Amino acid sequence: MIDRVILIGFMCSGKSTVGRLLAERLGWDFLDFDATIEMEQGMDVHEIFARRGEAAFRALERDLTERIAPQRRVVLAPGGGWVTQPELLEELRPGSLTAWLKVGPRTVLERHRRQGGVRPLLTVEEQVPALITAREPFYRRADYALDTESRQPAGLAAELADWVAREGDS
Ligand code: S3P
Repeated sequence: MIDRVILIGFMCSGKSTVGRLLAERLGWDFLDFDATIEMEQGMDVHEIFARRGEAAFRALERDLTERIAPQRRVVLAPGGGWVTQPELLEELRPGSLTAWLKVGPRTVLERHRRQGGVRPLLTVEEQVPALITAREPFYRRADYALDTESRQPAGLAAELADWVAREGDS
């Protein structure tokens, strides 16, 4: 029985947008990790990185994961680096469908510029291809991979909703 979806993928892959649409379709809750951490800490992710460092941010992601683990009928959109603590994904895996939203470096940078460019790990644009490559083994742990390059968020959400329905029947 699948009653949770976890969307993983690199920054600007559309996790929050697709996740919100998917949650609407399923009638489930939606939880955006970055937004929740920002609300709880009273500062944005950029500031957390600058003031406390990346390790402190990862500890906040870990703590949030543990707290939300009992939640069901929920679509989760953790930040792109959440997968680098793979035990967190494994903890949530039972009853979850995990999907990797794939995106290439050029699209990441285009989308990031369009959004006003606020992500701390995207400030050195030349490092993006290598960071995507380094993250791939973690993203490959997902049950499904979806190419997001030439697709609209609504179509991706519809495909994921079909998967949830199929898995629920099996
Ligand atoms: C990060 C991704 C960001 C945010 C933080 C670090 C990463 O989330 O958590 O800037 O390490 O890939 P998005 O993937 O939602 O941009």
